[in-house]
Amino acid sequence: MASRSVPFHDLRQRFDRAPAEFRTTVERVLAGGRYVLGPELEAFEREFAEYLGGGHTVGVASGTDAIELALRGAGIGPGDEVITVAHTAVATACGIERAGARPVFVDIRSDDFTIDPRKVPAAVNHRTRAVVAVHLYGQPARLKELKTVTDRIGLLLVEDCAQAHGARYGGLPVGAVGHIAAFSFYPTKNLGAFGDAGAVFTGDAAIAEKVRRLRNYGQVERFHHVDPGGFNSRLDEIQAALLRVALRRLDADNAERQRLADRYLGRLRVPSLPCPRPDTEHAYHLFVVRHPHREWFRDGLRRRGVETLVHYPVPIHLQPAYAHLAGRPGDLPDTERAAREVVSLPLYPGLTGELQDAVIAAVNSAAVAEWGTENRQATAPVLSG
Ligand SMILES: Cc1ncc(COP(=O)(O)O)c(C=O)c1O
Repeated sequence: MASRSVPFHDLRQRFDRAPAEFRTTVERVLAGGRYVLGPELEAFEREFAEYLGGGHTVGVASGTDAIELALRGAGIGPGDEVITVAHTAVATACGIERAGARPVFVDIRSDDFTIDPRKVPAAVNHRTRAVVAVHLYGQPARLKELKTVTDRIGLLLVEDCAQAHGARYGGLPVGAVGHIAAFSFYPTKNLGAFGDAGAVFTGDAAIAEKVRRLRNYGQVERFHHVDPGGFNSRLDEIQAALLRVALRRLDADNAERQRLADRYLGRLRVPSLPCPRPDTEHAYHLFVVRHPHREWFRDGLRRRGVETLVHYPVPIHLQPAYAHLAGRPGDLPDTERAAREVVSLPLYPGLTGELQDAVIAAVNSAAVAEWGTENRQATAPVLSG
């Protein structure tokens, strides 16, 4: 048994790491008298765009809204199809459907859980307008290969960066490679608010302006509305101000995630570990291993005091909410295998060495107990794929 129980998340850590700064920030906004669409949001939008290397950030109410608004900002809607993956947070598909478009799912790569660019061309037809690439778990998707395909066919490349703030691809931060990017700042994210929040990022000024109008009733100036289908999706001043503080800590937090991940990679003995690609900097939003007997393995960890989660147990094409898309078991073999095997282990800034040691000991003994002495060889860290 682990001597300590280890929670999957410890969100309080976020506050505990800079309590005075977060407190004074909230007080400053409360005392300032501007609570929506004010100077804090303007400053955050500017600072986040600078962090991403220049462009336009539009703060919105959530990551799901960011996906919807990114697509609508680019003129994508009813009658259009958008290619993406079924092994992601359901929000990716929700955002596409909220925009009025139809999600079309292609399989992932089994080595890093991101969209397989080789599968995209076969899913394209005359209605296809965009590919939404998800940088799942913090691992950048294969953007160069994707861009070659999307540029050749004339599709937009949209990056779902909800799990990958600060991850890099070929030296560039994710979000800066495609035409448009959507970010979530849900509290568990690498860049997290203290409530719901999100943003659209793009180098295209016209798209940014349209998203800016759509998030605020389709309004071009006060009481003048030019875009139909406008709604209220504004990132409020308190969250924007807190995000400015969190943004200043993002690189240090990601470096800590990397150190924790390196320690896991060196010491865990499970059949399959994350396999970061050399042209990328993984942001380790989640540390995900595979186990062929997942529920048995998780149960062993639970008994040893380690909390785990599964991201994600049911692929979107097999969810009842998406039955109208007529997905069938067997359509996406690597997606469906991932859904059966993945397990997320605790990894967050502030996870102490003592707690991480408890996870490592629990994982190694649960994995070995499962595989048996004669199969120890199989528990060596074989990289997946
Ligand atoms: C990959 C991905 N896309 C989109 C979202 C949606 O973000 P939000 O929860 O802020 O709406 C999330 C968050 O759960 C996510 O993980």
